Amino acid sequence: MAEHLVMVIFGGAGDLAGRMLLPALYSLYKDGNFSASFSIIGVGRTARSDESYRAFAASAVKKYFKDGYRPNQAAAFARHLHYLTGSVDDDAFYGSLRECLDQLLPSGEAHRANLAFYLAVPPRLVPVIVAGLHKFSLCRAMPNAKLIFEKPFGHDRRSAEALNRQILGAFDEQQIFRIDHYLAKETVQNILFFRFGNNIFEPIWNTRYVDHVQITVAEDIGVEQRGAFYEDVGVIRDIVQNHLMQVLAMVAMEPPAGFEPDLVRDEKVKVFRSLRRMDARHAREDTVLGQYGPGRIGGRPVRGYRSENHVSPSSHAPTFFAGKFHVDNWRWTGVPFYLRTGKRLPRRTSEIYIEFKKLPLRSFGKACGPMPPNGLALSIQPQETIRLILTVKYPGMGNAPSQVSMDFDYGKSFRVKPRPVYERVLFDFIRGDLTLFPRQDAVDMTWAVLDPVIKFWEAHPPARFPNYAAGTWGPREAFRLMARDGRAWRFSGEGPG
Ligand SMILES: NC(=O)c1ccc[n+]([C@@H]2O[C@H](COP(=O)([O-])OP(=O)(O)OC[C@H]3O[C@@H](n4cnc5c(N)ncnc54)[C@H](OP(=O)(O)O)[C@@H]3O)[C@@H](O)[C@H]2O)c1
Repeated sequence: MAEHLVMVIFGGAGDLAGRMLLPALYSLYKDGNFSASFSIIGVGRTARSDESYRAFAASAVKKYFKDGYRPNQAAAFARHLHYLTGSVDDDAFYGSLRECLDQLLPSGEAHRANLAFYLAVPPRLVPVIVAGLHKFSLCRAMPNAKLIFEKPFGHDRRSAEALNRQILGAFDEQQIFRIDHYLAKETVQNILFFRFGNNIFEPIWNTRYVDHVQITVAEDIGVEQRGAFYEDVGVIRDIVQNHLMQVLAMVAMEPPAGFEPDLVRDEKVKVFRSLRRMDARHAREDTVLGQYGPGRIGGRPVRGYRSENHVSPSSHAPTFFAGKFHVDNWRWTGVPFYLRTGKRLPRRTSEIYIEFKKLPLRSFGKACGPMPPNGLALSIQPQETIRLILTVKYPGMGNAPSQVSMDFDYGKSFRVKPRPVYERVLFDFIRGDLTLFPRQDAVDMTWAVLDPVIKFWEAHPPARFPNYAAGTWGPREAFRLMARDGRAWRFSGEGPG
């Protein structure tokens, strides 16, 4: 149970707070995770009273909290909410915040408060808020203060370092929670359980048995209302630098000495340290960018990226990425990791696929066709499954090989719905568990790998954009990237666009 919790949500009436944070906090409250004295302070420039903020929260919880909503409990939760009107670039605001905290914390207890600052505001305000909190001694001076904020963590390596220097001027690394909400998904966390909780896979989880690894994060949606954001960011900064790199690290890392946050994070950083750096030649040969044109998804026509709202009709922002990476260490040398992500692909799916090496000998002779390799598919969404792909004999007189699978399905095995990711994010944040939050050295090293790729493509934008039709698995070049190595993407049924 979290004692003396005071959470300040900057942007407390924004979209993220209304749709995700307040319903998740209500759920944690409902399950008895907070002591009676907790307080939540929403912050924003729009003038609101405590009462109107409570009404906002109650209706957000009612709308977005789907399971087991109870009006009395929601009303009791809302009584712990307060609202502070002010702009974070105004010094006077921080004076008011201090006063508000002094009122909420019984005298002499401020030093014991679990003081949690959630920055649910546009990224440009992160340095502004950190500077304000620092000036008013609400950072390191408060022993249990913590800061949480969303990606992007910088725009490139240099800006990420500058942002981090500024934050480290105010908070210690142990007080800083950088959210990669993808890591809070049950099935992503299960990667480590699956790997390090089962003795049978560890001996084959290496270059001797693994042929290659594929990681796909596919979305069927386009940029929706985020056109302006996407124009500035593009797919590498939005997905590859964080989600894909973190998943790669979970597949490739060594067993940690324990599950304490820094032991796990140390092992991830070792993977990033072993990732082969790319120069311009590698970027050109081993990575592919794409941008979707008009097409069809689920039988209905959809427009191309350049026709989306707030997008330039001649935009070069990439919405698709495929790349071949190498982890140059003892375990993985010679095993390529193929990463792929994109918008407006045929369906929403995230999967890690490990393909094992082919048999050393066609021991069944010419009477039998070639044996396909074994594979292991860890599906993250929408299905939450683990599938081991095996070869067996097809029934009958002949010697025909046939592929079958052994499946584990989260939903069928446990009949428990996974908790929303923001519940897990907030739960860990409030408890101060940093395991699922990327450390700065990881952020820094993933930028170091991807900066040259981004720079190469910004200097040499692909000539043929858009280069894949919405509803296909990306541009031809992504298929060639695999075919060149005698391999194929696992999902490619609908072919290149
Ligand atoms: N929305 C999502 O689903 C989602 C998902 C993942 C990550 N994120 C990230 O979460 C952050 C917030 O996104 P959002 O969608 O919630 O944005 P939003 O709806 O625009 O909310 C931002 C909030 O910040 C407040 N704000 C803006 N300028 C301020 C200032 N100078 N002083 C005080 N308050 C200020 C606004 O309130 P006032 O106008 O009243 O000041 C507003 O409530 C972003 O970094 C975003 O990338 C959002």
